[in-house]
Amino acid sequence: MKKRSTQKNSQQARSQSRGQTSQRSTKAKSVRTDGEELVTLYDLLVDELRDLYDAENQLVKALPKVAAAVSSSELKEALEEHFEQTRGHVERLQDVFEHLGESPRGTHCDGMEGLLKEGQKMMEKKGEDAVIDAGIISAAQRVEHYEIAGYGCVISFAKRLGHSEAAKLLSEILEEEKAADEKLTEIAESAVNVEAESGDGQEEAA
Ligand SMILES: [Fe+2]
Repeated sequence: MKKRSTQKNSQQARSQSRGQTSQRSTKAKSVRTDGEELVTLYDLLVDELRDLYDAENQLVKALPKVAAAVSSSELKEALEEHFEQTRGHVERLQDVFEHLGESPRGTHCDGMEGLLKEGQKMMEKKGEDAVIDAGIISAAQRVEHYEIAGYGCVISFAKRLGHSEAAKLLSEILEEEKAADEKLTEIAESAVNVEAESGDGQEEAA
């Protein structure tokens, strides 16, 4: 165990040293061969950006279906607005790859796939429209929180590596994810959940 920990520490030291190198020179930014080996913090930054890029592309495909499935017009509007923002996120991520001199391609994001499957299951449920809407908001907020966590990490990596323009673009995306999450909370706290609680008034009347 001790030996393993020592090896890990020495790997970390090498990684940190290479990370610092990438801060000074964009030419020496990576020792990756095929994207699978993560040696430097820069490698991790690109790896996570590829994950986020795929996650955003999965969302672009899914959001119109989610917007079509909800009953509340306010919720539908918010999801349609976030669909447009998400297309912008894909474009901003392409700009980030360009700034880093990397090809804009994704690697499959299993996390987003799982979250979207959960959302799909909610959309297929039968019941009161307002209750299903509240469930879809709940699924959508899980997606937003997942993205918020992901962007928070890559922003921190980009800043540490001195890629300030990339960090700025990523921060713009993060702000829109946070705003979308807040908007969903607002909708959940107003019309949708009030209707869901009362079961469209049927239980109150009983
Ligand atoms: Fe996004």
